[in-house]
Amino acid sequence: MTEAVLLVGGQGTRLRPLTVNTPKPMLPVAGVPFTVHQITRARDAGISRIVLATSYRAEVFAEFIEGADLGIEIVIATEVEPLGTGGAIRHALTHLESGADDPVVIFNGDVLSGLDIRGLVDSHVQSASDVSLYLTPVPDPRAYGLVPIDADGRVEAFLEKPQTPEEIVTDLINAGCYVFKRSVIEAIPDGRVVSVERETFPGLLASGAHVRGVVDEGYWLDLGTPLAFVQGSKDLVTGKAPSPAVGAIGEVLVLDGAAVDPSAQLRGGSAIGRGAVIAADAVVDGSVVFDGAEIGAGAQVVDSIVGAGARIGADCELHGVVVGDGAVIGSRNELRDGARVWPGVQLDDVSIRYSSDS
Ligand code: GDD
Ligand code: MG
Repeated sequence: MTEAVLLVGGQGTRLRPLTVNTPKPMLPVAGVPFTVHQITRARDAGISRIVLATSYRAEVFAEFIEGADLGIEIVIATEVEPLGTGGAIRHALTHLESGADDPVVIFNGDVLSGLDIRGLVDSHVQSASDVSLYLTPVPDPRAYGLVPIDADGRVEAFLEKPQTPEEIVTDLINAGCYVFKRSVIEAIPDGRVVSVERETFPGLLASGAHVRGVVDEGYWLDLGTPLAFVQGSKDLVTGKAPSPAVGAIGEVLVLDGAAVDPSAQLRGGSAIGRGAVIAADAVVDGSVVFDGAEIGAGAQVVDSIVGAGARIGADCELHGVVVGDGAVIGSRNELRDGARVWPGVQLDDVSIRYSSDS
């Protein structure tokens, strides 16, 4: 039996306002909560038991897991106060059933990847490592944890969110999946906030522990920002990102109960939620429309996220924006590049435009 801990307790600050009501891993992506893609991939890699380390809006997970059968045992461990990534792993320990030297897989709860999870676990056991880290190269590593390794794959340092150019010593980053020897988790201090990235990993390196990096250059994405969230959704819909939880791969995904006018154009890996309405001549390109949202006639929604039950008026133009749940955007508004509309906000007709020509 292999066990895993899925870290899903973060606040998802960069995805606000979508995460005001729903924790990031529970946001719908390609038809199911994001966490389901991760849980079913773990299941298919032979993980039979998973501890969901929750904190922020823990009740949303509990409610979902109660009614779901994902073919894997799921246990919920809730931190009353968020304990950080390392503290959450330590807190989950009492819920683990495996033995002292058994491997325990840890997943960040917002990563979509093509990692060979079983391969990482097997090589961890064979090499008798204390910790094995999944690493991937990225063009700009500054927003992540940098992990330089030597020729044998031994981790040399762990530089979380580097601040200076001198710290950019590699393009290899912590890709958000680790295998810990269970006894190493036991050594994490209990009952206080611990960052696995800033405290546990540097501490293990300083003490000479065997920490190994495994580079995988396959698909990888952290869905922590609106742009990345839209990208991840598109990649799941079109099959570029692997997940057992995507029913039918295609150019777009229209879920049951959505009403799409025949003259509307859907493209670019867009996902249309249950009960959503897309009116005549609307264009939805590379976007995510949550359940029950309405896109008015002639509106253009590009690279954007429209929250549950939100209404976008006729002839609006949305490019790269996030509209919160239940917000109402009057007709002929134009919203661009990073604009975020909070849940329930109402915008009158023609309130925001970048040009006066229409
Ligand atoms: N239970 C619990 N408690 N979970 C937490 C807590 C907490 O206090 N804080 C964060 N998490 C969870 C988040 O929900 C998320 O799934 C995961 O831990 C990582 O947190 P993020 O907030 O997404 O971190 P990040 O993206 O800035 O950086 C992390 O991921 C990168 C790769 O995606 C770091 O691990 C980086 O080193 C790494 O490169
Ligand atoms: Mg993240």
